[in-house]
Amino acid sequence: MEHGEALECLLADEGLLKSIELLGPHGGTDARKDKKLREVAGFCDVILHYVRKFLSREGRLRVLECSCGKSYLGIALAVLLRRLEGKETDLVGIDINEELLEKCRRLAGEVGLSDARYVADRSIRFRSEQDFDLVLALHACDTATDEAIAKGIELGARLILVVPCCQNQVRGQIKSGHPLTAVTQFGHARYRLANLLTDVLRAQFLQGAGYYVEMQEIGSPRLTPKNLCICARRTRRGPGKDRAQGYFQLKEMFDLKPALERLCPAAFRPGEVAGDTA
Ligand SMILES: C[S@@+](CC[C@H](N)C(=O)[O-])C[C@H]1O[C@@H](n2cnc3c(N)ncnc32)[C@H](O)[C@@H]1O
Repeated sequence: MEHGEALECLLADEGLLKSIELLGPHGGTDARKDKKLREVAGFCDVILHYVRKFLSREGRLRVLECSCGKSYLGIALAVLLRRLEGKETDLVGIDINEELLEKCRRLAGEVGLSDARYVADRSIRFRSEQDFDLVLALHACDTATDEAIAKGIELGARLILVVPCCQNQVRGQIKSGHPLTAVTQFGHARYRLANLLTDVLRAQFLQGAGYYVEMQEIGSPRLTPKNLCICARRTRRGPGKDRAQGYFQLKEMFDLKPALERLCPAAFRPGEVAGDTA
């Protein structure tokens, strides 16, 4: 993977960075903007790697950016795909914050993405007749990441790439009586294990839904501790409960009720999600 390619390309275009407000109007930056730029660029590098490997034959790419916020990611990615790969993007962003979306429409227009569409709603409520190649989410709070994953599975997206934010859901559910109490008796260890478990359960769930899953880092943990990217690619083998064994084992071991099962109840049933022809 070409780490740094996206950052180099974005830094070379001051006009773009000013338009999407990752640089101030006079070219100045601050620690928050610089961090966001590096997170976005690191994530774009991972996405570009997967697009080159698995979607190189597609002309236009249909991208759903869940919990888009100001859509830094979607807009920067669309510009990079055009510049580096000669690909146009049909970008749809979704977020519950309507005020931010007005801004997204303006920012997208300023960089020539006048077809970009922004929808005010929860990701899980998004409906579309259109297929999507990529479903993305950067730092979607807590179970909003699960909504993005569930939506990606439901839409049959070819690639689902998410960088989770705060992983609160499992933490409160870890009680005593499980096999790793020697670990979870220590507060910080319980916290770290819960974060890891949340993301591993997501990855295992995606495997059960017929995806091949890898984990990548979008940058150093010194840039952001929220640097883990769950990268899922839809495979031909389709969904199946037998492929979700790891998910069920972990869930039972800690007596957990992960949000994904509620959000995407048909995920392991062949023929019940888009794109699955079984
Ligand atoms: C930490 S911000 C990240 C925004 C953006 N992805 C970024 O990296 O700059 C989280 C965003 O998730 C949105 N959000 C929270 N719950 C949501 C949900 N259920 N569906 C869609 N968006 C949601 C919030 O409005 C907020 O804009």
